Amino acid sequence: MAMPGDAVDALAKAELHIHIEGSLEPELAFALARRNGVDLPYGSVEELRRAYSFTRLQDFLDIYYQGMSVLRTEQDFHDLAWAYLERARADNVRHAEIFFDPQGHTARGIPFATVIDGLHRAIRAAAGKLGIEASLIMCFLRHLDEADAERTLDLALAHREKFIGVGLDSSEVGHPPAKFRNVFRRAREEGLRLVAHAGEEGPPEYVWEAIDILGVERIDHGNRAMEDRALVARLARDQIPLTLCPLSNLRLCVVRDLAEHPLRRMMEDGLLVTVNSDDPAYFGGYIGDNFRAIGKALDLGASELAAIARNGFRASFAARPAG
Ligand code: ADE
Ligand code: ZN
Repeated sequence: MAMPGDAVDALAKAELHIHIEGSLEPELAFALARRNGVDLPYGSVEELRRAYSFTRLQDFLDIYYQGMSVLRTEQDFHDLAWAYLERARADNVRHAEIFFDPQGHTARGIPFATVIDGLHRAIRAAAGKLGIEASLIMCFLRHLDEADAERTLDLALAHREKFIGVGLDSSEVGHPPAKFRNVFRRAREEGLRLVAHAGEEGPPEYVWEAIDILGVERIDHGNRAMEDRALVARLARDQIPLTLCPLSNLRLCVVRDLAEHPLRRMMEDGLLVTVNSDDPAYFGGYIGDNFRAIGKALDLGASELAAIARNGFRASFAARPAG
């Protein structure tokens, strides 16, 4: 029996897989473009939204990086994060571990401090004003080389108290986790928490590498882990969380239909799965929409959806002491 939508609203949630730049709604993109005198190659909000039609991850990434061009000042980064946090509160999110992509900004000449100070000011205010405990995870862009990631970590360490961990995102295939073994080792030595996107489009081997070579504590997506029974057994044994993003998987054609999404099979295999939004402005829904859509497609009952929501808190770094 599917759960009524308002019952999904009532579930307290933790969001662990949200790219803050992926929460940039077309309306805010146009407002920031105007504020900063940036030209967007689209005539209207509607035209921009119509461009959000993707057949694979790279189609999306090309538009996602282009969208970042409107973000220029500390206030812009604050406003972006605040808009997400207010929207998350409406979905009863109480805890959020938020990704950001500094190399997408420093490559355009925006200082690292501008980015992190704006985001951090918003998440600090969210605790008191919205009742959301939020933190930041800095992702390295895997299509760039490890030296660029190393330089980004150097910049970030001057702001060590403003973020809790590092991740790995962007174009997956052809950029295996092992490419970043040294920078992840150094991040671990700095006491940072470690996550990586793996098994979204890339093969199960990338999930193995993320776990065994990078030493990550969570896998972002991980869909293709289901192709390797030994890997499923490892994820289940060590209760390594997967941060799933159903609407993202649908819009990026990782699954043909939500009814084919592996979430239910993962639960049956004893995996610790969570539901998240990834890039909600681009994929047609925030975390509540993701819960409702996957619940309907897989006929998940109230207790299953409640268990998934609880998993979000269990998989959060707030609940897991650093190893
Ligand atoms: N960056 C933003 N969203 C992403 C995703 N779903 N996969 C990889 N990199 C991303
Ligand atoms: Zn992601």
